[in-house]
Amino acid sequence: MIRSVVRGFGAALPKQVVTNRDLEQKVDTSDEWIVQRTGIRQRYIAGEGETTASLGEGAARQALSRAGLTPDDLDVIIVATATPDNTFPATAVNIQNRLGMRHGAAFDMQAVCSGFVYAVATADAYIRGGLARRVLVIGAETFSRIIDWSDRTTCVLFGDGAGALILEAAEGAGTTADRGVLTAQLRSDGSHKEKLYVDGGPSTTGTVGVLRMEGREVFKHAVGMITDVIEQAFEATGTTAEDIDWLVPHQANRRIIDGSAKKLGIPLEKVVVTVDIHGNTSAASIPLALNEAASDGRIKQGDLVLLEAMGGGFTWGSVLIRW
Ligand code: UT7
Repeated sequence: MIRSVVRGFGAALPKQVVTNRDLEQKVDTSDEWIVQRTGIRQRYIAGEGETTASLGEGAARQALSRAGLTPDDLDVIIVATATPDNTFPATAVNIQNRLGMRHGAAFDMQAVCSGFVYAVATADAYIRGGLARRVLVIGAETFSRIIDWSDRTTCVLFGDGAGALILEAAEGAGTTADRGVLTAQLRSDGSHKEKLYVDGGPSTTGTVGVLRMEGREVFKHAVGMITDVIEQAFEATGTTAEDIDWLVPHQANRRIIDGSAKKLGIPLEKVVVTVDIHGNTSAASIPLALNEAASDGRIKQGDLVLLEAMGGGFTWGSVLIRW
């Protein structure tokens, strides 16, 4: 059977680092509160000229270079983002143009913090369905541009950045020993909208709006939803927590990450954590974390890697992939 195998990975971050101490100068907060409640120590914030498309382009170029490929070798670009450069055209098309790619197709995917999981699942379906041979999947965000910088309950949490994966069709035996995406589990429930949303949009206010979140309410649902969708991935593939080499979670809060790992019985040494250095970068957080752990040699070819995310919508999902 056809599998979607990882061929390359990359990432890009804005130049500017903003520490918790920097934020103490802007709002009534403290480094101690932020570290204790979230695990975040710093985040990267986009400056002038840095946008979701420019960061996504940077991540894409690194992934292409690592894979030894050029844009000519790609069939499809999918960008997971909730902070596009424009309402339309899609940021994926903008990145396609920046890469000088004049063939194939490009589109955006909107599932907020679960966007990268949704985009990998979509790329896998395209590849297995024969619609594409190579798909560039990007998670790219500039949440700093939709933050209310006077709201201490949200402005300390988010950061900007982008990460990318290139998935390529390869023949597999149809077992969990195959390299590539082994299963993807996606969920959503729109009844939770008011707990995490942006209070503007083209068809309602005609404005971009800013992020609004009832953090405690989101927190209450997070661990349960994450562990449910991971149990579904185990069930679909006949694998267990013991088989997992690396859990690469969406990086929203250290307490959610630790709580989920503990509930699943995955030791913390097998969990990739970047929330301390990146903050919550929404759809970019998983590919940024993958880039860290694959660049420094933790994630190696053949490792069983579990991705999970939960966020606005609510949306949530998991992907099990043999690297
Ligand atoms: O990525 C998408 C999914 N999003 C998430 O997963 C986020 C989920 N939620 C969370 O991570 C946590 O709920 C937060 C980190 C957002 C908040 O942590 P919490 O432990 O749930 O705190 P809380 O909202 O219950 O607030 C506790 C206290 C409050 O004061 P009182 O009412 O107890 O006097 C807040 O006003 O902390 C106060 N507070 C702050 N204090 C200092 C809230 N924000 C801050 C702040 N600095 N930045």
